[in-house]
Amino acid sequence: MDFDTLVHERRSIRGYKQKPVPKEVIAEIIGLAKGAPSSMNTQPWHFHVISGEPLDRIRAGNTERNLAGVPASREIPMHGAYEGIHRQRQVDIAKQLFAAMGIDRYDKERRHDWVMRGFRQFDAPVSIVVTYDKDLDPGASIAHFDLGAVTYGLVLAAWTRGLGAVINGQGIMQSPVVREHAKIPDDQVIMTCVAMGYPEEDFAANNVKSVRRETDEIVTFVGFDEDA
Ligand SMILES: Cc1cc2nc3c(=O)[nH]c(=O)nc-3n(C[C@H](O)[C@H](O)[C@H](O)COP(=O)(O)O)c2cc1C
Repeated sequence: MDFDTLVHERRSIRGYKQKPVPKEVIAEIIGLAKGAPSSMNTQPWHFHVISGEPLDRIRAGNTERNLAGVPASREIPMHGAYEGIHRQRQVDIAKQLFAAMGIDRYDKERRHDWVMRGFRQFDAPVSIVVTYDKDLDPGASIAHFDLGAVTYGLVLAAWTRGLGAVINGQGIMQSPVVREHAKIPDDQVIMTCVAMGYPEEDFAANNVKSVRRETDEIVTFVGFDEDA
């Protein structure tokens, strides 16, 4: 698959076949993703690939805490709720997903169910918890940048192997649960997790193509001929 096709075809996958993913395939994907650039080649990342019983314990713990109203406890600093245009884009993708799934905006029960699916990492057979070296905290924004690069590599590489994935902030919202069951060492910080598995073809949300801003809107060229 050429790069342009890969970038255009990839999309977040939120419905999975209950089919195990071989360890070797995941190792291959991580092997490709680790080609990402990092600040001064520090490569501050670690990947914890969780499946089976431990992943089920994470799903159960997340669900329990979220239903009990335990506030989010991530290990990375968080912004507040999105506002303005950022909130608008958040609403737009939610509308696309709900429309695909036939979830009415007033159907509280199904909307709640969708949120809970996210906390269960969309029932994916695999979750890759991405962490970085704690000695880079506080002020680890460059490490966060490095982890963003490697995580995009993960989802792209997965796609080339016929696997789907979604970067899943919800999955680490209750980070103490993830830390306990994934046995994350104390010298690492949990950044995010990526749910991964073979896409369920009949799952409508898997076909949602999110919209991107026009290139003209996000780019400023300086010093080109026409500006002179
Ligand atoms: C840092 C980060 C966290 C995300 N967390 C979630 C999440 O918790 N639940 C979810 O459904 N999607 C999550 N996503 C996926 C985004 O919603 C998705 O990438 C975006 O809507 C663009 O869609 P696409 O990936 O299909 O192109 C996350 C993506 C990123 C980069």
